[in-house]
Parts: sequence; structure tokens; C-alpha cells
Amino acid sequence: MTNKAKLSYDGKEYEFDVLEGTRGPKVINMSSLYSQTGMFALDEGLTSTATCKSEITYINGEAGELRHRGYEIEWLAENKTFLDVVHLLLYKELPSKERLDAFRYELKKRSFIHEGMHKLFDAFPDDAHPMAIMQASVAALSTFYPDHLNMDKHEDYMEMAARIIAKIPTIAASAYRYKHGYPMAYPNLDRGFTENFLYMLRTYPYDHVELRPIEVKALDTVFMLHADHEQNASTSVVRSVGSTHAHPYSCISSAIGALWGHAHGGANEGVIRMLEMIATPDRVDEFIKRAKDKNDPFRLMGFGHRVYKNFDPRAKVLKKLRDQLVDEIGIDANFMKVAQRIEDIALNDEYFVSRGLYPNVDFHSGLILKALGIPNEMFAVLFVIGRIPGWISQLVEQKEAPLKIVRPRQLYVGK
Ligand code: CMC
Repeated sequence: MTNKAKLSYDGKEYEFDVLEGTRGPKVINMSSLYSQTGMFALDEGLTSTATCKSEITYINGEAGELRHRGYEIEWLAENKTFLDVVHLLLYKELPSKERLDAFRYELKKRSFIHEGMHKLFDAFPDDAHPMAIMQASVAALSTFYPDHLNMDKHEDYMEMAARIIAKIPTIAASAYRYKHGYPMAYPNLDRGFTENFLYMLRTYPYDHVELRPIEVKALDTVFMLHADHEQNASTSVVRSVGSTHAHPYSCISSAIGALWGHAHGGANEGVIRMLEMIATPDRVDEFIKRAKDKNDPFRLMGFGHRVYKNFDPRAKVLKKLRDQLVDEIGIDANFMKVAQRIEDIALNDEYFVSRGLYPNVDFHSGLILKALGIPNEMFAVLFVIGRIPGWISQLVEQKEAPLKIVRPRQLYVGK
């Protein structure tokens, strides 16, 4: 079989190398398209373009398959914790028990933020969206670590990565607490990573916060399922901004902006808003009809995915978790009924089936987060906590195999 692809245009033939990865479709290397032909490729929304080589995450959208460094997400969710997966993404292997303990300890030590950051949280208006606070605070974090602007050693990248992974739950909890005027909370070093975040959301001075292991396990799974998802919109932002050699925390801040959008990480908040709007199972049909109407901007939130056209494996894990949690942490019974009715109808409706629109990770995570007492406005923030390890690992991978500055071209159609 040839490893060249031919393009013929205007009586001339051009050849391009065909590359093969370890899994997934072959890729035509089009980087010489302009120098060979004087033409650009147009791919709006990058639906057919691979923007980098990566060995972190593999997705097969047709088969509903998601793997991190070779491990299937279902297996990881069943057998490992979020911190195991963080280690896997960043250090390329699952940790031994001793290594995991050391990693957890390192993150605990780094979980405090500079006291100066508190003045920043205090400055935001009460109605500021926590994602806007997150974006600004992570950008501000770069001012405390100017050395991360010029790193060239692997150890420096790892220190930079551990720092933000450790601090992000503290920043997220602070964003929430300041917004509501609650007293500031410091990390509790006696608690694990996920447990500490829940603690920081709920604690009050001199109060003892009792967290149920099932709640911690549920949130840990939610974090894990969001840990990385190859070259999605926000990760592409991290790589684009990173290609300019910007400060890594500035790259992450930009990605938080991208994630905030309701087509991306803002969708889980949108799912709950939609369930509230529909309110009762007998109104589901009306909203399904609206979702199918091209003249109505309403979309079924938590449905559809650019890559998964069969099912989203993360949604499968979460649906199982949601069903386990119904009795134990009390998921809103009415929301459950509305959500179930949406699924039952959409999964059998020609419009949704023919377009490959299935429940995505956000469809189920919203109900779980709500049951954990997490306010809607914090849902996307939790996505950030889960996704930071993926963003950082992608950035480190890119830094260690530098890329040209990302500079797309256009088809000019103006005056
Ligand atoms: N409800 C109704 N119709 C839909 C929906 C939906 N949720 N999603 C896609 N469609 C239709 C769309 O109108 C289009 O129809 P047609 O071909 O007749 O014009 C077709 O399906 C393809 O849609 P698209 O917008 O071209 O597909 P995309 O790959 O560009 O968008 C998506 C993917 C996730 C942005 C989109 O499905 C969507 O807006 N879903 C709702 C928001 C959501 O749940 N987002 C979370 C994504 S998963 C978490 C993450 O990765 O961030």
C-alpha cells in the first residue's frame, strides 16, 4: 500500500505523505500544501484536521472508546482514583502505592495560595460568574511564578504542573466562598485531594465537616472522567496559546475561557437549567419538538458530541454511578424522571439517531453534582478541576516537542 496521497488540480499532481499512528485513522500531512500548490485548506471548525501528534489520549468516536496512555476509561473508573489518572497523564504511568502517597503529599503541600490572592477574590462583584473569577485568578497566579515563563528542564515543567493541579481546588473553593461572603477556608492537610475540595466548599470555622465516602467517591469519578479529552476546544486553546511561549498559567486561563461556553464545559449547568425549565415529564415531548425545530435556538443540552457519534463512554460510567447514587445520596426524583424521559424519547427518535446525538458526559454529571449539593454555577468550575491535568499534560508534551507558532490562514471573502 502506498504511503502517499495524491491531489490533482488544474492538470497538475501533488503528493503528500500519509502518516500512521498507533491507533486511529491515517493522517495526510498537508503542511506542504501551500508551498507545493499555492493553495490553503479550508476546514471550518477543524472537523477533519489533526493539529498535533500526541501520545496522551486516544478517542475512537465510532466505537465509543476513550483511553488515557492506553488504559480504557471504564477500567480506570472502576479500579483507580482521580489522582492515579492525574499521575498517568502527567508522568506517563500509573503510580505505585508509594509513589501515589508521595504525589498526594506533594499536592497537599502545594495546595495553599499566596495570601495576596485573597485581595483579588474580594474585588469581584457578588454576581460574578465563578468561571470568570477562575479565569482571572489563574491568570493572576502567573504573577506569583514568573520563573515558569522560561522553563527548559523536565523537572521545572513538573513543578509548574503540580503547582496548578494542587492550587486549583483552593482557587475554586475561594471563588465560591468569596462570592457568597462565606468565611475563607484553607486546605485541610488531613484530607485527600477530592475530599479536601468538598471540605473547602462546605466548612465553617470551628465546624467539623463530615463527608460521606460515597460523596467523595462520586466527585472523584466525575473529576476523573473529565481529566483529558484530546484536542477539544479548550485543549486546542492551551496548545495555541502555548505555541506563542506564553506563561503556562496564562494558557490555562485562556482555556478556562473556552471551557466556559455552553457548547463545551458550560453544558452541565445548561442541563440542569433545561431540566428546571421542562419541570415535568409530560412536557418533555414539547421540548424535543423544539430541539428538532431549526427555527428554534433551543438544543437538548447534554446531547451530541463532535467526536462520539455512537455513545460517550464517560456518559455510560456516569449513568451507572448516577443510578447507584439515587438511593444513597438522594438524586432529585423529578429531575431523574424528566431526564429518563428525555433519554427514552431521544434515543428512539429518528432526528437524534440519524445525527448520532447521544447523551454526553454532561447529561448525567449535572444530576450527580446537584445531588452532592454543588451549586449550578460551580459545575463548569468542577470541570476545570478535572481537566487541569489534561491541559497541563498536553502543554508539557508540546513544550518538550516544540511546535511552530499556531498561525492558521483564511479564505478572504471581504472587500
Ligand atoms: N439538540 C438538537 N440538535 C442538535 C444537538 C442538540 N443537542 N446537537 C447537535 N444537533 C444537530 C444540529 O442542529 C445539526 O443538525 P443539522 O445537521 O440538521 O444541521 C447536527 O445535529 C450536527 O450538529 P453540529 O452542531 O454541527 O455538531 P457539532 O459536532 O459541531 O457540535 C456539540 C457538537 C456538542 C457542540 C452539539 O452537539 C451541542 O451543541 N450539544 C449541546 C451542548 C452540549 O451538550 N455540549 C457538551 C459537549 S460534551 C462536553 C464537552 O466536550 O465539552
